[in-house]
Amino acid sequence: MRGKIQSTILSLTICGFLMTGCAGGDREENNAAAGGGNSGLSQAPAPEASDPATEGEEVFQSKGCVACHRIGSRLVGPDLANVADRRTREWIVAMITSPDSMVRADETARALLAEYSVPMPNARVTPEEAGQIFEYLVRESGK
Ligand code: HEC
Repeated sequence: MRGKIQSTILSLTICGFLMTGCAGGDREENNAAAGGGNSGLSQAPAPEASDPATEGEEVFQSKGCVACHRIGSRLVGPDLANVADRRTREWIVAMITSPDSMVRADETARALLAEYSVPMPNARVTPEEAGQIFEYLVRESGK
């Protein structure tokens, strides 16, 4: 039952994400119309070239991670600098997408909760977005 609700929410999130992409498309279409171009649905705009780390930075901010995390200092949650050196990519993606089940089932996450006392909330981040955040954290840690 819970799984079903979660996957519904997941698809809604994905729909929202796709719609954001469409909004960008509208802008392009208006520009083309203003320029007298013959724009139509057949001319789908090319997706914006953006690297995963930059996408990840946006998700990190829009999902409110910044409220509790810094890259380089400890805040409400752990310092995320060099987190990829102490955990695997798989673990980090799992922690970002489902912190609630991680602090129940995973030994490391449980120890973190014991240390920080605040449970990290589930922000309904998709695995794809979590992968982008991972790339962002790696990029920032290397600076
Ligand atoms: C309300 C504060 C809060 C928010 C918001 C939050 N976190 Fe956390 N995060 C924590 C705490 C506290 C922990 C330690 C585990 C726990 O207590 O649940 C943690 C743990 C983590 C860890 C594991 C760190 C380590 O040292 O292994 C990662 C990675 C992480 N958070 C990423 C994120 C990302 C990405 C977001 C945004 C989607 C986010 N967090 C949002 C508080 C937060």
